[in-house]
Amino acid sequence: MSDGQDPRAQLRAHLQFYADLGIAGFSRDAAWTGRRAAEAGHRAPEERIASASNALSVEQDASTADGRLPTADLSALDSLEALRAHIGPQCTRCKLCQLGRKQVVFGVGNPQADLMFVGEAPGSDEDEQGVPFVGRAGQLLTKIIEAIEMRRDDVYIANVIKCRPPGNRNPEPDEVAVCEPFLFRQIDLVRPRVIVALGKFAAQSLLRTDTPITKLRGRVHQFRGATLVPTFHPAYLLRSPDKKRETWEDMKLVRSLLRQAPGETGPAAVEGGEAR
Ligand code: URA
Ligand code: URA
Repeated sequence: MSDGQDPRAQLRAHLQFYADLGIAGFSRDAAWTGRRAAEAGHRAPEERIASASNALSVEQDASTADGRLPTADLSALDSLEALRAHIGPQCTRCKLCQLGRKQVVFGVGNPQADLMFVGEAPGSDEDEQGVPFVGRAGQLLTKIIEAIEMRRDDVYIANVIKCRPPGNRNPEPDEVAVCEPFLFRQIDLVRPRVIVALGKFAAQSLLRTDTPITKLRGRVHQFRGATLVPTFHPAYLLRSPDKKRETWEDMKLVRSLLRQAPGETGPAAVEGGEAR
């Protein structure tokens, strides 16, 4: 926003995006933005690297019946930075390390976020920069976050797997099995109140279901102590802009869930899927 552009032009572009999302009008909800600012003031300082980071190893040899590995005990890793150090910048636990990925893309954002986004896997821009959702889809994700009056820095963003699959193919089951315990630990450390699963792959993978994204979205699911809201992937929205309206409906649901007092179950918190 501070790129020296005429503010009126900026505002016009912003309004155009909201219009593209199918948003009809605006409400200036001071209570909402005010509450978030107050909460931000009570954030604890950045977590420190825990000495436990090298004391753990991932068991890779005991697949369960569904081909998924049992979640390794990562519980001694008591901060995101300890977890990041444990994974290491050049992880070799799955075959993606030999298939052209440049680096591990761990995750980014507020370590105590109320809202977390989970995508599929890094693409080429993310692989270059080591940060999730920085390419075209990521820029759209940033706008989607801003559309509910939050900033990218307020939320936490990660992917089901942390390395780029070659040619942006879908992650394979063995890759997910090895990597997803790290995402689960991130979720357990951040303890978001709401998780948005971005796209078919993330939603189906997290919820252990083959139900189409069109059926999963538009309702809430319970996942690791959070309310999970599936929606379309921003890369899909770039190809199918008409789906932005439904995405906006999902984001309004997210906003209303976040507005509820912690622990409160109001009308928005209707159980819609398998609990895990
Ligand atoms: N798509 C994803 O699913 N994740 C990213 O980080 C970038 C693009
Ligand atoms: N296909 C996907 O992979 N994701 C979506 O969000 C929609 C269709």
